[in-house]
Amino acid sequence: MRWIKVKDYEELSEKAAEILMKQLESKPDSVIGLATGGTPIGMYQQLVSRYERGDISFARVTAFNLDEYIGMGKEQPESFHAYMEHHFFGHVDLSETSRHIPDGMAENLEEACEAYEADIQASGGIDLQVVGIGQNGHIGFNEPGTSFQSRTHVTELSASTRRANAKYFNGKEMPEQAITMGLQTIMKARSIVLLAYGHEKRKALDQLRTGTITESFPASCLHEHPNVTVLYGEESEGED
Ligand code: PGA
Repeated sequence: MRWIKVKDYEELSEKAAEILMKQLESKPDSVIGLATGGTPIGMYQQLVSRYERGDISFARVTAFNLDEYIGMGKEQPESFHAYMEHHFFGHVDLSETSRHIPDGMAENLEEACEAYEADIQASGGIDLQVVGIGQNGHIGFNEPGTSFQSRTHVTELSASTRRANAKYFNGKEMPEQAITMGLQTIMKARSIVLLAYGHEKRKALDQLRTGTITESFPASCLHEHPNVTVLYGEESEGED
């Protein structure tokens, strides 16, 4: 596990975008795994700017997002479908047929999970997966206690996750369940970059750094992966 400390959020976003760009330079038809949440927004902004400058193209890329809330369609602004459209997909040349996000509106959720997993396999597997980390150590929505053997599945969101994500719901009721890639799905990616920014992630990073591998701290499975980069940093005093 390679740890890279950044001086501020901008540097985190730049470095994350650079890792993605390098991946696409070496393999323009890469399969990339994407994350949502507050942390990667700056990375998406960087990628969109680079695309607009003509420095990068996503025309041959296939993308798979980590997760989606159950019961949330793309017309709902809090959905990860809407997030991806707003922050990334709506601004770049990644073809609509190559964008994949779990279907939280599927009539048969189990089938949707299996189909998602099959689509990832059919694509040749994920080359580079971007993940965030929850304060409780979740990656994707794999909450503490999730099996390291898990594949794409339906999960109950923990109280900690619902508290942390309530800020994106503006007082509206938050969903209690989500579809998420499993820990095994994430671990099958050929390389993984974990983005963590802010003091509220300090405890989780400290725990990750201990190297203890336990299902009660999902991100700890990453210690068993040969190619993980952790980009991390904290606000300086006075910064938000
Ligand atoms: P955040 O979410 O980027 O909004 O902090 C990360 C996560 O919960 O995985």
